[in-house]
Amino acid sequence: MEEREIDKRLHVQTIGIREWNHQSSHYNRYEATPYEALDFLFSRHKIQTSGGWIDFGCGKGRVPFYVHYLYSLDVTGIEMNYVLHQDAMNNLMDYRQAFPKKRGTLSFKCCLAERYEIPSDATTFYFFNPFSLDIFRSVIHNIIRSIELAARPVEIILYYPTADYEQFLQDHSLFEKIVEIPIPHLYVYDEQERFLVYTYKKP
Ligand SMILES: C[S@@+](CC[C@H](N)C(=O)[O-])C[C@H]1O[C@@H](n2cnc3c(N)ncnc32)[C@H](O)[C@@H]1O
Repeated sequence: MEEREIDKRLHVQTIGIREWNHQSSHYNRYEATPYEALDFLFSRHKIQTSGGWIDFGCGKGRVPFYVHYLYSLDVTGIEMNYVLHQDAMNNLMDYRQAFPKKRGTLSFKCCLAERYEIPSDATTFYFFNPFSLDIFRSVIHNIIRSIELAARPVEIILYYPTADYEQFLQDHSLFEKIVEIPIPHLYVYDEQERFLVYTYKKP
């Protein structure tokens, strides 16, 4: 199904690219994960259905809406850009009106991912190249601290991973890659078109 049709079915508008006025080497532009990539991920990997899902750098909220729509999980989108956050909130109003009875909470916070306090029940952390390695490192540090305070099974999902994110997690003694999911018809043109899923290993 076309991106536009799925947006329409969900009563949201998540299409488009938004560049920053002042390009930063730390914060990347908005572009949503393609729905077909998400479908492929869900067909190849059984996502955790207990605990909350967090999308770091959620933009207009495509991933939170789709995960909530399909799995009725508690989902949170974190977005630092005020305009994008506002778009996500407008989408939320329309989505809620269309699906008032769906279980699971859905919320959007306008803040820096690196400052966000990880809730003790969050178990899946999603990243589509939102920011620099320095910020990724500090978010991972916050996730580890949260697990130390409340032990639980945790997964990190990377879409279109950069070499530095991948290297960082590969060298990290507390994370283990459990699956690599190339998206076949996209991967042939671009080897970054894949998902990597990691779990937290007990120290
Ligand atoms: C490539 S988009 C990914 C959008 C969404 N996660 C998805 O997969 O559809 C990256 C997003 O991260 C946001 N972002 C960048 N740095 C951030 C930060 N430090 N904290 C929160 N959001 C950030 C950008 O504004 C942008 O919307």
